[in-house]
Amino acid sequence: MTTEFLLPTAELHLHIEGTLEPELILELAARNGIALPHPTLADLRAQYEFTDLQHFLDLYYANMAVLVTEADFADMTRAYLLRAQASGVRHAEIMFDPQAHLGRGIPLSTAVRGISSALASSQDEFGISTALIAAFLRDQSEESALAVLEELLAMGAPIIGIGLDSAEVGNPPSKFIRLFERARAAGLRRVAHAGEEGPPSHVWDTLDLLGVERIDHGIRSVEDSMLVRRLAADQVPLTVCPLSNVRLRAVDTLAAHPLPQMLASGLNVCINSDDPAYFGGYMGENFQSLVAEFGLDVDALELLAGNSIRSSFAPEARKAQLL
Ligand code: ADE
Ligand code: ZN
Repeated sequence: MTTEFLLPTAELHLHIEGTLEPELILELAARNGIALPHPTLADLRAQYEFTDLQHFLDLYYANMAVLVTEADFADMTRAYLLRAQASGVRHAEIMFDPQAHLGRGIPLSTAVRGISSALASSQDEFGISTALIAAFLRDQSEESALAVLEELLAMGAPIIGIGLDSAEVGNPPSKFIRLFERARAAGLRRVAHAGEEGPPSHVWDTLDLLGVERIDHGIRSVEDSMLVRRLAADQVPLTVCPLSNVRLRAVDTLAAHPLPQMLASGLNVCINSDDPAYFGGYMGENFQSLVAEFGLDVDALELLAGNSIRSSFAPEARKAQLL
């Protein structure tokens, strides 16, 4: 990777479980005595051709079986931070999926302590400031999400906010109004996936019914010109993930990605890697692909990097350091 892409950046859309590289999956499986359905690197890698979001999610949840101990969660998190550092990331807001671990019998405290122990030394070890966001699975019930949020609050989990992820189609934002009200009352920041595979109406409802502060993805917003005007007027941050959109076939090709149109419409867009172990790269590879495809100039790269820092939930003093 050349240094021209190493502008200081914030990564705002990153699922820590999506950083589990195939090599680490095999290592953790061996460490924990877990028999994998795809036991060799070649077998496992052969599964990484996705037809859509659900196809990816099936593998993503299955691979989590290797995460058993606090050390497993900590090792995964440290491996991400090391790669993010090499990609120019200086601040990372990291999502994890508590329900996905609880559903496999892993106590919340194991996931929370493992991830947060690695984050605690991130600034010193990697120069990356961090924050943790609990993402709720929209294909599960609101009652389940509310119960898990209460458990996180009761245990004093060091989360700054909540997110909403997993299968978007058929699971509209209106299902989670009480969850987001509860999070707001608890003083938590609020983000949600919308307009990844779902329609522009999901972006409207995520803003108006859930009161989120950022939209994760939001690429289908370009299908609705009124929505584009609203997003531009309010400068709503959109955490766009180009390589993810290509690999999950939300767009046909990178050339067909709406990023240039979004920038031209004055939207507050930033670049992120989503699930980098699954989609062909971390922040650096996402920027490199965009430069190769669209010939983004230094001004555009600085705008994207600046947007990420301004749209972060980092303390103002930290933002000032990075801008
Ligand atoms: N969980 C992990 N990655 C996701 C994505 N791209 N969309 C929805 N849910 C996810
Ligand atoms: Zn995502």
